[in-house]
Amino acid sequence: MSFVDKFKGIQVAITFRDVMLIPGRSEVEPADVDVRTRVTKSYELNIPIVSSPMDTVTESEMAIAIARHGGLGVIHRNCSVEEQLEMVKRVKRAEAAIIRDVITVGPDDSVGDTLTLMRKHNISGLPVVEKQRLVGIVTGRDVRFTEDRFPVKEVMTKNVVTAEEGISINDAQQILRDHKIEKLPIVNKERELIGLITFKDILLRGKYPKAVRDENGQLLCGASISPFDLDRAKKLDKHVQILVTDVAHFHNANVFRATKKLLSEVSADVVVGNIGTFEAAEDVITELDGVSGFRVGIGSGSICITSEVTRAGSPTLFATAQVSDAVAKYGADIPVIADGGIRSPGDAAVALAGGASAVMIGNLLARCKESPGAVITIGGRYYKQYRGMGSASAIAKRHSIDRYAMPSKGVTEGVEGWVPYKGEASIVLDELVSGLQASMGYAGASNIQELWHKARLAALSQYGAEESRPHDIILPNESQEKT
Ligand code: XMP
Repeated sequence: MSFVDKFKGIQVAITFRDVMLIPGRSEVEPADVDVRTRVTKSYELNIPIVSSPMDTVTESEMAIAIARHGGLGVIHRNCSVEEQLEMVKRVKRAEAAIIRDVITVGPDDSVGDTLTLMRKHNISGLPVVEKQRLVGIVTGRDVRFTEDRFPVKEVMTKNVVTAEEGISINDAQQILRDHKIEKLPIVNKERELIGLITFKDILLRGKYPKAVRDENGQLLCGASISPFDLDRAKKLDKHVQILVTDVAHFHNANVFRATKKLLSEVSADVVVGNIGTFEAAEDVITELDGVSGFRVGIGSGSICITSEVTRAGSPTLFATAQVSDAVAKYGADIPVIADGGIRSPGDAAVALAGGASAVMIGNLLARCKESPGAVITIGGRYYKQYRGMGSASAIAKRHSIDRYAMPSKGVTEGVEGWVPYKGEASIVLDELVSGLQASMGYAGASNIQELWHKARLAALSQYGAEESRPHDIILPNESQEKT
């Protein structure tokens, strides 16, 4: 091909703001639009929203909040393996049908140590275990008015109400009510402690009906990994359902080799990315066995400067359509997560219309109470910090270094700054979901599969874009900076 030919029939890297959903005949009201989806081969979500594995977006609190609302949190990896594991365990401990990883004390432990443990894990009662056998239960009430130096065996309740493995949640609830107790230890025939059912967990199940849970009734959780850090992946694999590779340019021979090994050593669903082209998806499908999801889009994130710096990238919408076509061509059954650049429910709807099963969001979630970091005030307004994982300060922490390979590339690929504080994640998630339902309603789709088939898109002209925003009016907040 000549150099001039490269520009003939050049592809248009369409982005969210270039298009609009054409309204279609609708059989449903927006509130009835079903937004449930599959995020990976084995896992379903009640809302098609995944939080970005970034250190200003997803730690335990965000992962808990988003899973309770029906989405998925992916814990970032810009920290030690131990720190990342601890964040995952906190999500898993947040609620469970039966807690397996029970925190216990021994009969000779002191009251003081027991209180410290209760405070550290924010729990009100602990089973007392000796040589794995349940010998008592100790609650805050038992220890609070005793001297710290006393052994637990002197204050614990010895006559513990227990149940055996296999008890239903309803029966457990009845026992808790009948005995007016908060915790029901589950024991085997030898009276060894094998789990714990708590009243709090049962209440939480009622409080968050849309929550997504794993087979143990714990909140679904994902974690990001590097294909080159097998040790981290294997440790996380024991605790999470979904591992998400965190590679800026996954379509790379070394990354493929490392991922092949990774896939053979972990049992969690593995989402690979980021990729941005039909060919990259085709190579994954034909060369890597066992991939459970695609993370798609390169350079569209609100904090990305990859495309600006390198003039390389694949805007999320363009990337989503390319990868979805490859998936369809091979009948590959690999859900696509559209990652980066989502600024509104409409953007999410367009990403889904382009073949995605879910969208990954950083910026909009960084604004929430549950994202890491404090709320700060600038000029009387509230903000939170948000930074790209390829930004200088994130790279300085060094753990994100192999995503953006700063030493070899010698460039930063992200920026850092502030985003306006929005309050609880539930507010942002509810807004996104209602807006998405409205968009899907306009498109005439009652669920995401229907949107894939029915949605038609139109290119927006420059005038069209201007007209689709408020115009010819002075808005009250016009002087304020737009974010
Ligand atoms: P939004 O638009 O939601 O995008 O802020 C979040 C996504 O951006 C990606 N990401 C980066 N991309 N340089 C990049 O080129 C960076 O420093 C960077 N940090 C995050 C990532 O895919 C995330 O989900």
